[in-house]
Amino acid sequence: MMKIVAFAASPRIGGNSETLLDETIRGLKESGADVRKIRTHAQDFIPCISCGKCDTLGRCVIDDSFQEMFDLLVECDGMVFSSPLYFMNVPGRGKALIDRCQAFWAAKFSLNLDLFSGRKRLGLLVACSGKKYGVGKTPIFRGIEDTMNILYIALGMEPMKSLLVPEVDLKGDINKFPQELEKAYEAGKNMVEFLHQNGVE
Ligand SMILES: Cc1cc2nc3c(=O)[nH]c(=O)nc-3n(C[C@H](O)[C@H](O)[C@H](O)COP(=O)(O)O)c2cc1C
Repeated sequence: MMKIVAFAASPRIGGNSETLLDETIRGLKESGADVRKIRTHAQDFIPCISCGKCDTLGRCVIDDSFQEMFDLLVECDGMVFSSPLYFMNVPGRGKALIDRCQAFWAAKFSLNLDLFSGRKRLGLLVACSGKKYGVGKTPIFRGIEDTMNILYIALGMEPMKSLLVPEVDLKGDINKFPQELEKAYEAGKNMVEFLHQNGVE
């Protein structure tokens, strides 16, 4: 069965990005995917300590809850990463998770390992922000998209078109945009369909 890991990277339970994520999960499940949802703030893991061990092992040696997330990220066919924008990027715990994925980068580029056996995998970013622009007219989601695009490379994932919703700030603001919730749901369905088309059962 197709396996998808869905991260909720906001500390605000039931906030805007998690509401979007839940719609994506609904689309994924209705299309038959097995979804494992992980709230990063409910996890117990530390940031990368740059010990360099992954450069020779292709795996992180820190014994905490990242180990399970590492295994899920190896096994999965796709990942949905939902996040609020914090200072133009993901919140600290989400960034700590991403930084721990250096182990995937090391496996691929230092050790030439293919942890995913050449399987077609997809990544999807679902994000929201309070504002429309950063400083001046800086595109508001540029930082978070750059970060995710590098993560997809490390994880051997093809990026889907991100679902990015600006100008939602207060908890519940996202409900003023039912068309974005619909897009989130459709993105879940599309992820399954694309993977099916590429031979993932
Ligand atoms: C610590 C912090 C930093 C934030 N930084 C930004 C920012 O740089 N740009 C922006 O547009 N909104 C920023 N926001 C607003 C959130 O992105 C916005 O409220 C979002 O809807 C929160 O999503 P959530 O409900 O999923 O947590 C920030 C909010 C917090 C709490």
